[in-house]
Amino acid sequence: MRLILAPMQGLCDDVMRDLLTRIGGYDECVSEFVRITHTVHSRQTWLKHVPEIAQGNRTFAGTPCTVQLLGSDADNMAVNALEAVRFGADKIDLNFGCPAPTVNKHKGGAVLLKEPELIFHIVKTLRNRLPEHIPLTGKMRLGFEDKSRALECAAAIAEGGACGLTVHARTKVEGYEPPAHWEWVRKIRDAVAIPVTANGDVFTLQDYLDIRAVSGCDSVMLGRGAVIRPDLARQIKQYGRGEAVNEADFAEIAGWIRLFFDLCLAKEAGNKYPVARLKQWLGMMKKAYPQAQTLFERVRTLKEADEVAGVLQRFEAEQLAEREKGRV
Ligand SMILES: Cc1cc2nc3c(=O)[nH]c(=O)nc-3n(C[C@H](O)[C@H](O)[C@H](O)COP(=O)(O)O)c2cc1C
Repeated sequence: MRLILAPMQGLCDDVMRDLLTRIGGYDECVSEFVRITHTVHSRQTWLKHVPEIAQGNRTFAGTPCTVQLLGSDADNMAVNALEAVRFGADKIDLNFGCPAPTVNKHKGGAVLLKEPELIFHIVKTLRNRLPEHIPLTGKMRLGFEDKSRALECAAAIAEGGACGLTVHARTKVEGYEPPAHWEWVRKIRDAVAIPVTANGDVFTLQDYLDIRAVSGCDSVMLGRGAVIRPDLARQIKQYGRGEAVNEADFAEIAGWIRLFFDLCLAKEAGNKYPVARLKQWLGMMKKAYPQAQTLFERVRTLKEADEVAGVLQRFEAEQLAEREKGRV
């Protein structure tokens, strides 16, 4: 069984990848997409998007990190991929699923699912130009408007020479609306000769068991569920090892929230980044935890990092006291 932390632009940056892989359970994570247009990115740009490149492509906890590229100009994507490899990247993933209108307008992401021939050309070009030892994988949705070309797109990725494929089990027009069509992942898995990773709507351990049963895949990618429930991968791995599943209590989560904020401050103090990222995360976590809602309300109107840090410290102390009360 493999668990992969999904690429999520604007949500799962290097700090979130660092935190979630410290909590544990992940075998791999994937960077936010790096968009390739007409230029060739500098080393500085690669390291800004994927700082893990400078740490042997590992997060702090040692989890491997794959670099994801998004674009449609096969030649320039190959030039950029080779540059990323020159600076240290050791695995490349290609994005054929992004639904963002600006990206699609420039012929990137999910819009390519209308042109399996172009997908094949991109994958083959990169595979031919990259050194053999650099794995190349692809990530796709089931189509743009409908699923009629899903198998063709998957075949294009496999026959182009990718060694793995992740399928987010929805079309572009389905956005993030449930349900995810896990049965389509099985169809694709049965049709291609490369390993397939199932993705879409895994928010709980039960969802994980269900996606595996329906898709038949051993490898699962967690996206929003990983952020909403930061110990989801850890729970799944405990279950997989036949251990008792210990869900984190909110005192433990409060410690991770404080660590996350400290890591954000270490990355970019003196601007809005730490407070904005914290609010974004709490805004998502409150779907699963009422305590996250309480904390969100306490920081909602705050702008200064010092004030927020004080609130987080007091909140963690309260949660630890609650835990002690529960033990009495
Ligand atoms: C905010 C956000 C940003 C995303 N950015 C990317 C991205 O950069 N590259 C990519 O391949 N998929 C991206 N995705 C899609 C996810 O990787 C994943 O396929 C999708 O969220 C479905 O999984 P989930 O239901 O577990 O969240 C993004 C999703 C979200 C919600």
